[in-house]
Amino acid sequence: MSVRATCLTLCLTLCLTPPLGAQPRDRADRVADSVLKLMTLDEKVGQLVQMPGAWNQTGPAAPAGGEDQVRQGKVGSFLSIWGAAVTRHLQEIAVRETRLHVPLLFAMDVIHGWRTIFPVPLGEAASWDPAAAERSARVAATEGAAYGIHWTFAPMVDIARDARWGRVVEGSGEDPYLGAALAAARVRGFQNGPPNTTLMATVKHFAAYGAAEAGRDYNTAELSERTLWETYLPPYEAAVRAGAATVMASFNDIGGTPAHASRWLLQDVLRDRWRFRGLVVSDWAGLEELIPHGIAGTRAEAAVRAINAGIDVDMSDNVYATDLAAQVRAGRVTMTTIDSAVHRVLRAKAAFGLFENPYKYSDTTRERTAILTAANRATAREVARESIVLLRNEGGVLPLAKSLRSVAVIGPLADDPKVPLGSWNGAGQAQDVVTPLAGIKEALPNARVTVARGTPVDTPNTSGIAAAVQAAQGADAVILVLGERDDMSGEASSRASVELPGSQLELAQAVIRAARSATPAKPVVTVLMNGRPLAVPWLADSAGALVESWFLGVEHGHALADVLFGDALPVGKLPITFPRATGQLPIYYNHKNTGRPGDVTNHYTSRYLDLPWTPLFPFGYGLSYTTFSYGTPRVSSASVRNGDSVYVDADVTNTGKRAGVEVAQLYVHDSVASVTRPVRSLAGFQRVSLNPGETKRVRFALGPNALALYDLTMRRVVEPGAFTVFVGGDSDTQNAAHFTVTGDTLVLAPAPPRMR
Ligand code: NOJ
Repeated sequence: MSVRATCLTLCLTLCLTPPLGAQPRDRADRVADSVLKLMTLDEKVGQLVQMPGAWNQTGPAAPAGGEDQVRQGKVGSFLSIWGAAVTRHLQEIAVRETRLHVPLLFAMDVIHGWRTIFPVPLGEAASWDPAAAERSARVAATEGAAYGIHWTFAPMVDIARDARWGRVVEGSGEDPYLGAALAAARVRGFQNGPPNTTLMATVKHFAAYGAAEAGRDYNTAELSERTLWETYLPPYEAAVRAGAATVMASFNDIGGTPAHASRWLLQDVLRDRWRFRGLVVSDWAGLEELIPHGIAGTRAEAAVRAINAGIDVDMSDNVYATDLAAQVRAGRVTMTTIDSAVHRVLRAKAAFGLFENPYKYSDTTRERTAILTAANRATAREVARESIVLLRNEGGVLPLAKSLRSVAVIGPLADDPKVPLGSWNGAGQAQDVVTPLAGIKEALPNARVTVARGTPVDTPNTSGIAAAVQAAQGADAVILVLGERDDMSGEASSRASVELPGSQLELAQAVIRAARSATPAKPVVTVLMNGRPLAVPWLADSAGALVESWFLGVEHGHALADVLFGDALPVGKLPITFPRATGQLPIYYNHKNTGRPGDVTNHYTSRYLDLPWTPLFPFGYGLSYTTFSYGTPRVSSASVRNGDSVYVDADVTNTGKRAGVEVAQLYVHDSVASVTRPVRSLAGFQRVSLNPGETKRVRFALGPNALALYDLTMRRVVEPGAFTVFVGGDSDTQNAAHFTVTGDTLVLAPAPPRMR
């Protein structure tokens, strides 16, 4: 086939690839058409209003006056109201007492579980297991739907390279490839399932919210169009391609325009380039904030900017409710714009079948029986085990023997039942949580377990350290549980320092030194609980074993004990780079080489005077209870015709004495290109289970998309030339092979619309 023909074939394939949100018109469209025709302008605007819930004596409810607003057809959906009875009650008002009987949608942040809380998304990403993420989203959707919820504001797919940003906990870390795989899996988990158990997923926050400058929440995202397309947009696109029903705009501005007013993002990219047909919702107060952003002088101007940019539903601001109809009448917004937005809302309701049965999600029996089931807890325990990352295991301290007669469990987080729930914990309850201490006690029913808090989490106070040292001295083994509270990451929870807070480092140093100088020396395991990478260089060098456990949800203690005592293997790998110090941020593995890459022998290179430039733990890093070695990768051909796939094979061997599971990772680097390229980019990963001494071959296919770049004119192309592939257990591997792409430049897609 000629190069031109190859190019044409690829372009056709890309252009015709479903679904990108594009579905043929269907029954839901026809229902929406028929209802829309009957609506007055005020009723249409009502569909675009999302009202936040409030609380009364019995739980979530409509705010004062809210029920009347529903009666008058002024509310299309609710946010943060859940429960079979209350959703049924409000639905009855909507379908019985309004002129057109249009049902409501109930939306909620069902993020990492509803009542059965799973690991926080960053922790779950450490499993590198999209199937696990899909299962957890499935359980979350089933439980959320049993509470009358139709619509979740998840998955959050924002790439984050700066651990100071508190919301790093809500995403999948720093990598677009891993992020895209998990984004699509979570969309499938939320949206695909038996009737009455699915939720509409929301891809958020569109776009580049994770690039908040200096890691300060809500801050400007200052980045090039190239970085946006290469690094930040792929997970959103993957989620849209997986069929996500809705998209949420982000708080930040990019290139001078806040996302809530960006026609470029919401029309040119989302609707025209990606052919997204679903709903776009604002983020809380995102419309009003166009005023402090400085691009709207009044609420009316904010309404006009937002609806004309492509925000369909106004979450919580009431800006559309108070100002939109007048702007339509004044000719600043066309009726076609309103109709398109309203049609999307009606279509979503029709797709659920709510016009036929508005109460299908308001089922008091399911609400009682479908939540926190033994099966759901078992799934949560499995996913939690997989999310744990072993960072250090000096002298094979882990797994600990179950025959231990006494253990000291030390640290401020060891027995706090709220912390493992993490941020956005839905209907999760502390009473459901197995704390680390509870899990350890259950695993060691015959051991004496002593407990010492040591210090508070984030206030400097060393008064409890002496008692903690004493507890350590009196036990056969020591388990320290340190880190951050659940409320120290998440929205509006950025930190200027990502070091261990409070006096925890002093506690760890005193306890570890005491345990080491005892005769015989006592095994010490330090367990971290946190929602972001922490800079813990002393622990990385001096803790016996160091275990990253994030916030694992209701099964935290069980999953942790499973791994600590060897009933489960540590399999997790870091989805984000851990820095040595806050001053290294932002830090990420897929950086550019620069003209002067860091070099210890050369002063005038890209490095620091006071710290190595390398990370504490690289992206993709994680140990096992065994060891693995990799054979040199082999490419299917040293010379590959442009447009063809190349296959990369590598042998992975379990070189230790225990069975183990390894996540083998493939990285690719374009050696010389028309534009600068990352030093390497993740292009594939696979789990391999290996018995001691066993070798298995992993095979990765690298198609044109994995080799492509945005050229100087922003076309997506594969350029001929030399490529290097790396296969190994983390992003630092030097285990490489080379091949060359021959022929002409291959154009995969035309340049995307330029930012405006
Ligand atoms: C603001 C957050 O940014 C968003 O992620 C969340 O979904 C909404 N609030 C609704 O709670």
